[in-house]
Amino acid sequence: MNDASSRTGEKAITVEEAIRGRKSTRAFLRKPVPRELMARILTTAGRAPSGSNIQPWKVYVVDGAARDELAADLCRRFDTVGEGEREYEYYPVKWREPFLARRRACGWGLYGTMGITRDDKDGMHAQRRQNYEFFGAPTALIFTIDRDLEKGSWLDTGMFIQSIMIAARQFGIETIPQAALANFHEVLRARLAIPEGEIVICGMGVGYPDTEAKVNTFTTDREPLENFVGWVDKLRPAKT
Ligand SMILES: Cc1cc2nc3c(=O)[nH]c(=O)nc-3n(C[C@H](O)[C@H](O)[C@H](O)COP(=O)(O)O)c2cc1C
Repeated sequence: MNDASSRTGEKAITVEEAIRGRKSTRAFLRKPVPRELMARILTTAGRAPSGSNIQPWKVYVVDGAARDELAADLCRRFDTVGEGEREYEYYPVKWREPFLARRRACGWGLYGTMGITRDDKDGMHAQRRQNYEFFGAPTALIFTIDRDLEKGSWLDTGMFIQSIMIAARQFGIETIPQAALANFHEVLRARLAIPEGEIVICGMGVGYPDTEAKVNTFTTDREPLENFVGWVDKLRPAKT
C-alpha cells in the first residue's frame, strides 16, 4: 500500500469480488466520505457506456449539514404524509409471479432479520423510515435525467448507478440504491433546486458500512443460471 492508497482506504479487489461482494447496506458509520473520493468514484462511474455517448445522467451529491437537513425534511414528510409517490412507475402496476414471490422473499427476509413480524406495523414503519435518513449514510446521491429523454437513457443511467456501487467498493465504501427517495421528488426538487425539466429517478446512500449492525447481515438470493439464461445452439429456419 502506498501513501495515497492508505489515505483513501484503497484495497486490491478483483472485479468479480467487487460485483459479487456488493450488497445493499442499510447501516453506515457516520465517518464522512471525503469529497475528493466521491469525485473519484463518480469520475470512474462516468466512464459507463451510453448510447451514442450522450451521458444522460445527472447526480446531486448531498453531504455534511445539507444532508442532515434534507434527511430531517424527508422524515418530517414521511411522518406527516406517509410514503409519497414517484413520478414514474418503478414496479409492475399489476404484480404477478415470479416477481411477486421474489419481492415478498426480499421484504420478509429483511424484516425477519430485524425481528419485525407481520403484525408489527410500527416496526415496518420504522424500518421504511430509515430510507429517509439514508440509512445513516453520510452522503446521499440523487439521480435525475432530463424528462424528455427515452427509455434508452434510463438504461444508460442504470449502468452509471451500478458503476458507482462497484467503484465505491475499492475504497471500502458501500451503498444502498433507493427508489424510495423518488417518492418525495417534490421535496428534493425544492431543496436541491432540481429543474422541472429533470425527473428524479432514485437516490443512493453512500458510506462506510457498520459491520456490527444486524441489518447488514441480510443477504438476498439469486435465481440459478438456468432460470434466466438461454443458450442458443440451433437457430430456427430463417423466414424466406
Ligand atoms: C434502483 C433500485 C432502487 C432500490 N430502492 C430501494 C429502496 O428504496 N429501499 C431499500 O431498502 N432498498 C432498495 N433497493 C435495494 C434492493 O432491495 C436490493 O438491491 C435487492 O433486494 C437485492 O439485494 P442486494 O442489493 O443486497 O443484492 C433498490 C435497488 C435498486 C437497484
